Amino acid sequence: MTHPNTGSHRAVESVYSNGPSAVQNPLPQASIAETAKILADVQLPTVAKGPIIRRPRVVAVVERMGLEARAVTRMQDMAKKYGQGPLLLAVPGRNMAVVLDPEHVHRVLEGSPEPFATAETLKRHALKHFEPKVALTSHGSDRARRRETNEQLLDHSHHIHRMAEQFMPAVRQEAAELLERVDAAGGRMDYDMYFGAWFALVNRVVLGDSYREDTELVELMETQRARGNWAFFRPVDTSARAAILTRIEQAVDGAEPGSLAALMKQMESKGEIDGSREENIQQIPQWLFAFDPAGMAGYRALALLASHQDRLDAVRYQIADQQLAEAPPLPLLRATVLESLRLWATTPMILRETTREVEFDHGVMPAGTSVLIFAPFFHRDDANLDFAHRFAPEVWDHQRTREEWPLVPFSAGPGICPGRHLVLLLTSTFIAQIVGQRSIDLLSHSLEPDNLPVLLDNFSLRFHLSGR
Ligand code: HEM
Repeated sequence: MTHPNTGSHRAVESVYSNGPSAVQNPLPQASIAETAKILADVQLPTVAKGPIIRRPRVVAVVERMGLEARAVTRMQDMAKKYGQGPLLLAVPGRNMAVVLDPEHVHRVLEGSPEPFATAETLKRHALKHFEPKVALTSHGSDRARRRETNEQLLDHSHHIHRMAEQFMPAVRQEAAELLERVDAAGGRMDYDMYFGAWFALVNRVVLGDSYREDTELVELMETQRARGNWAFFRPVDTSARAAILTRIEQAVDGAEPGSLAALMKQMESKGEIDGSREENIQQIPQWLFAFDPAGMAGYRALALLASHQDRLDAVRYQIADQQLAEAPPLPLLRATVLESLRLWATTPMILRETTREVEFDHGVMPAGTSVLIFAPFFHRDDANLDFAHRFAPEVWDHQRTREEWPLVPFSAGPGICPGRHLVLLLTSTFIAQIVGQRSIDLLSHSLEPDNLPVLLDNFSLRFHLSGR
């Protein structure tokens, strides 16, 4: 196996496979032609859009050409033909499978990290450019410790993060500054304006108030994430990576009150988290990186509200009534962000890798197989869901719907996103400041409520905001 940090290889090798498979009863296998179509229709658009950092021009093309809808149709065709699956793909030199059955989504995600490791090969190569020791691409006891660190710091099992009250002034200030800028621009809001305000907030929450305008770290991260888009095809820029980690470590040492960096330092000194300083620091780039899709999700949620006046009225009613002590607060806004993520998943490909042979009803999956769960197939499967293409926040009230059908924008099982409650808290309270104070019209798109597009390009969404 090549060392994950050399960046010098051209072939993807699995950590988990032990040479040729001894599998006697393999799962159904797609033909070479079908594999080519699946890779072209499902994997290629996601990879081209940029799995680690989006390429806005490609996103626009994928939206215009309806490629995301084609991907869902391709998966539906495969499910019709192969039934339960999982379906093995005919990729030379690599074991790959796609999940076709809702039950198998639950099984794979519940069975992480053994036998379905989160540390999948492609993911490791993509993330090593800025966080080789992140929990997601670690395994065994390293993963367990790093996952626990994330769970502790992100308050994974609570709707309301223990520092929520400290975050709220920053939420209000950044939203107010955004609204001032929008007013000065004649009421027009584009993604750059929204994202600028959102990231000022994110920098304050993660690193501290003095990092509010630290565009240097954001740019360093963007450059490394762009390398991550190329995974193993680009060598690691170790000095840029070190520069990111040094800056983050300075923030932890600086421990500005009200920041997650300060919480890390405090928990380290009290012995409440176990990792070494080096590995703890490496969890933070994942947070900064993952707040980027949270920005997209919040902005698209605004598009949903602008096109559903009745829901917007209900949201405003809840905002007027808002109590942070309620659990969870602003339920309709949270469900709107969840719907934004169901309709337009920001992590469309959830990848796992088998650590050993795994038996399914219809055959055995070899060790070292990369297993792809393509979330849009399950979220937008109109063959099975009557709400597939409409805004249906009520589905998030029904635990049973989610148990029966995998709606997995934040994944599920032991590898579920530990930041999900913090994301929902910050996005919902930030958006509440906008829709609570302004009327909102969507200028760039006309969304049909019963037929929402399978991809909505956040970069080209534009709004008009006016006083209420
Ligand atoms: C809209 C925003 C977000 C979405 C949709 C999202 C979704 C996900 C998904 C699907 C995974 C599983 C990935 C996989 O298994 O390959 C994941 C993992 C993770 N997310 Fe999020 N995430 C978001 C934001 C955040 C934020 C803001 C943080 C931190 C503050 C965060 C922290 C993490 C961490 C640490 C993991 C790795 C968990 C593990 O190793 O078990 N995420 N997220």
